[in-house]
Amino acid sequence: MLLTNSTSTDVIIGISTIAIIIYLYVKHQYSYWKRLGVPQLKPTFPLGNYQFALPKGLQMGAYTDHYYRAFKKMGAPYGGVYIGLTPNLVITDADVAKTILVNDFNNFTDRNMYSSKHQPLSVNLLSQKGDEWKSSRAKFTALFTTSKLKLFIDFASQGKQDLITYLDHFADGKKDVAIHQVTSLFVADIISMILFGINANSFNSENTDFKNFGRAVFDSFTPLFQLKLLMTHCYPKLAQFLGIGNLQKEIEDFGNAYVPKAVEYRMKNNVRGTDFLQLLIDAKEAGMDLTMDEMVSQSFIFMSGGLETSSSSSMIALYELAKNEEYQTKVREEIYRIKEKYEGKTSYDSLMEHTYLQQVLSEVLRLYPLITNVYRVCVQDYTMQGRDLVIEKGTPVIFPLIGFHRDPDYFPEPLKFDPSRFDDKNNKHKGYFPFGAGPRNCVAARLGIIQSKLAIVAIIENYEISLSPKTPEALELVENTFTLSFKNDIYLKLKKIQK
Ligand code: HEM
Ligand SMILES: *[C@@H]1O[C@H](CO)[C@@H](O)[C@H](O)[C@H]1NC(C)=O
Repeated sequence: MLLTNSTSTDVIIGISTIAIIIYLYVKHQYSYWKRLGVPQLKPTFPLGNYQFALPKGLQMGAYTDHYYRAFKKMGAPYGGVYIGLTPNLVITDADVAKTILVNDFNNFTDRNMYSSKHQPLSVNLLSQKGDEWKSSRAKFTALFTTSKLKLFIDFASQGKQDLITYLDHFADGKKDVAIHQVTSLFVADIISMILFGINANSFNSENTDFKNFGRAVFDSFTPLFQLKLLMTHCYPKLAQFLGIGNLQKEIEDFGNAYVPKAVEYRMKNNVRGTDFLQLLIDAKEAGMDLTMDEMVSQSFIFMSGGLETSSSSSMIALYELAKNEEYQTKVREEIYRIKEKYEGKTSYDSLMEHTYLQQVLSEVLRLYPLITNVYRVCVQDYTMQGRDLVIEKGTPVIFPLIGFHRDPDYFPEPLKFDPSRFDDKNNKHKGYFPFGAGPRNCVAARLGIIQSKLAIVAIIENYEISLSPKTPEALELVENTFTLSFKNDIYLKLKKIQK
């Protein structure tokens, strides 16, 4: 039906009406927090408070740190931002954080992550929701016990000779070594051993599947992929509707090709391994309800969850130890003492005894929380006790880890790297959660720490390390990755210790 005699006038009226409706809707949406009496940052359409994401990319840690500081300056224990059009609550108070993550976990069981049956790899422990997550988490906790972890670590710790042989090519003034490369390869070796019983032999072999895999997960952020991420992040429902996922093809190929083949091979030939995959196969044979898709996607998340986090934390630890001789000497003395006690053998038990190194790593993860944010979604309307706020079902909640970990209220002189912060084992360290908190914290925190320790022990035992002049005195963050990464490569000089 025509409103006027002129079609073009009708079109203009139509478009204007739609524009006004969108305008009003956006305006209404962008006052959500104000209406609830929660302080908010000023959003702009269409990315909300995520407007800086283009063209630089997505370092979520940098944004949320910005949010954290802004609300903290206002003296607010939390504040509101908009990611796309969706209101998100940002927490800036350690007690409020703990209440939500631990005490009242049942009202915040999920993460706001892409998970779609159309893309089986996206259905994993990290992204699953509600009861489905609960059931998966229970399965994995039951499978990945301390005694299994011990077995795997004892098995995997034998492989450090490759690392030493490789590093000898650099030692004693031959060449400075780009340390991230080294820790990545080393951790890739350990993880592939633990997960699939494969000696990936990364230091020698031309077989670079595992290396490429690690790189694909974290490095190859092309502009198109960035855009996809932005879509899944800011407009998750629309992305799901359009079938836009957030995994690169290399990654899907790897999982889909490798895991089913390995499972089939072992079942058919009755071959057993001392690894995670075997745990899955045994559980399935014992009647646990575990599909092939699940096996693939859970192996995938273990692979990607473990690689970059552990290799970066050992890299940063080595950087800090290279900068500070006193810390390095202390770590080395501890290594020699424990080595003697265990007659030269590295094992789960021996690694657990490196308490000073543990402090170094705790401090690394404080100053550089590799997973920069913890996320939850409110799944049941929630009344915050003692405060005038009801968090509505569906609201995403962000806990900015860099914000907390570099907040002088929780850590005096926050930018100073100082392992003695962790001298006192009874100190609970309010505001410190590098592995998240509560029932949905990191499932493999201990494995992460042990892997990092393994790499550091192997290197510090055999080399005195110092910074190459090519390495900057302060590390600058890269803006376009999920995890914390740095602009500059870290180069070290190695001096072989003669024994
Ligand atoms: C230094 C090493 C590591 C750090 C800093 C780290 C950090 C984290 C953080 C902050 C979370 C979110 C926790 C939360 O929401 O409360 C997480 C979850 C997770 N991490 Fe780690 N992680 C590390 C190592 C690993 C390793 C080695 C694996 C696997 C082999 C792994 C697998 C996972 C998985 C599967 C989840 C999701 C758990 C769930 O939702 O139930 N992480 N990690
Ligand atoms: C958490 O959710 C439950 C419903 O499952 C509700 O009864 C309860 O009041 C909520 N907790 C708070 C503190 O609002």
